[in-house]
Amino acid sequence: MKVLAVLGSKRTKGNTASLIEQALIPFQELDYFSGETLFLGDMEFDGCTGCEGCARSNRCVIDDDMQHAYSLLREADAVIIGSPTYFYNVTSDMKKFIDRCYCFSSYNPKDRSVWTAEFDSGPRKFAGFISICEQNSVDDMGYTPQILQKSFESLGFRTVFNQKVLHCFKAGEVKSRTEAMESAQSNGRKLRDTLILQSPETHHLSTTLIP
Ligand SMILES: Cc1cc2nc3c(=O)[nH]c(=O)nc-3n(C[C@H](O)[C@H](O)[C@H](O)COP(=O)(O)O)c2cc1C
Repeated sequence: MKVLAVLGSKRTKGNTASLIEQALIPFQELDYFSGETLFLGDMEFDGCTGCEGCARSNRCVIDDDMQHAYSLLREADAVIIGSPTYFYNVTSDMKKFIDRCYCFSSYNPKDRSVWTAEFDSGPRKFAGFISICEQNSVDDMGYTPQILQKSFESLGFRTVFNQKVLHCFKAGEVKSRTEAMESAQSNGRKLRDTLILQSPETHHLSTTLIP
């Protein structure tokens, strides 16, 4: 089973990276999980142009690093998506990434209020979200947690957790916040155990693996 983490901060040793690392620990404990982390800041990719080249095929026509990301998203059983808040929103890299996932959606051309997403069918995919900001109130995160959750739910993912971490400014500062780090790990465990429970391959193991 595969888990894909997507990191929306350019700080590869920043707070989002530290929290995602924690959330991945439970997956690393069991050898039938493989994981990959996409650092959006290291990728070369453009924003969606609205060309509708994907309309019939569900395949984006822009040939850049998102093509690799699409394969990973298709293969993943679960995703962990993390973004810091930038001006009450996800980072521009994360927004670009989300917009490029438009190709997974299909609309009825005669009535665009009728639509579906590629991941609405096939084996259920699950998601966990992590947002982090420097201010003390969840209001100062603005739309960050909602944009992550609503976008990936619209693509067919079921949300298992949506963690919000406040009051962290400097890169890596969150490492000294024991509660936030433990909570990221226990959220990762919850996502992992959800996969174990729902998968026919591993469901029988759930009584031994899930304490
Ligand atoms: C351009 C920019 C905009 C930001 N906007 C907000 C904001 O609206 N609210 C907030 O609380 N923090 C804001 N921050 C602070 C970051 O969310 C915070 O430093 C976060 O911990 C960075 O996470 P990272 O280390 O994973 O990059 C902003 C930071 C930058 C660089």
